[in-house]
Amino acid sequence: MVYAVPGSPLVAERTVELLRADRRVSVTVEPALSFLDLAWARLGVDPLAAGVTLVDGQRFTVEAAGLSGPLLVAQCDTVDVLSAIKLSVDEAPPADVVVLQRLGLAEESLTSVAWDDLDRTVRPDHLTCLWIPELRPPVAAELMRFWELVRTLRERCPWDRQQTPRFAAPLPAGGGARGARRPRPPRRGGRPRGRRRGRRAGRPPLPRSSSTR
Ligand SMILES: C[S@@+](CC[C@H](N)C(=O)[O-])C[C@H]1O[C@@H](n2cnc3c(N)ncnc32)[C@H](O)[C@@H]1O
Repeated sequence: MVYAVPGSPLVAERTVELLRADRRVSVTVEPALSFLDLAWARLGVDPLAAGVTLVDGQRFTVEAAGLSGPLLVAQCDTVDVLSAIKLSVDEAPPADVVVLQRLGLAEESLTSVAWDDLDRTVRPDHLTCLWIPELRPPVAAELMRFWELVRTLRERCPWDRQQTPRFAAPLPAGGGARGARRPRPPRRGGRPRGRRRGRRAGRPPLPRSSSTR
């Protein structure tokens, strides 16, 4: 069976990645020209010498956090993606950026755009990528990493998912004295903490046995 994708099967093709990782499938990859080859040729850039970082535009806020220097951003297919890219940067890049569209086709275009106009003048599509020659070091990198950590915990940690604003009790005045108690989250299965077995509403506590004295 032939499974064909546009460009190189090894560049930003998640389905190919999944197929290659699946032991039930025997895969032979036929190399092919990527949009990246055309991008370097049109921009006149050697990505290795220039130290270019490749970034997924849909995850720019997280992936580009902390980065500086030249970036090539793929998957810039909607105005919303361009807008998110623009707004996630603390300080506009010193030079204009270049929007590369439909490389290798008759309608190919390279447009130089001022940073502020990124989501105003460009009409992005599924064949649009962005060249940022220089990105200044961001101020909010730590914040973005923290935000990513919070997002990951919410997605993957069952304990974290149980937390609600009810458990975010303010510290007492003075920042919380030693021994100050904070409310604890519920246990798995919903049984409240701090109660003896069998002690529920309307039911008296179990009598103390001599061994517990
Ligand atoms: C999922 S990647 C697939 C890349 C493909 N495997 C390749 O090697 O060319 C798709 C993204 O690459 C970029 N892209 C692909 N073809 C392009 C082209 N002809 N011109 C400009 N950008 C292109 C766009 O950013 C698009 O959203």
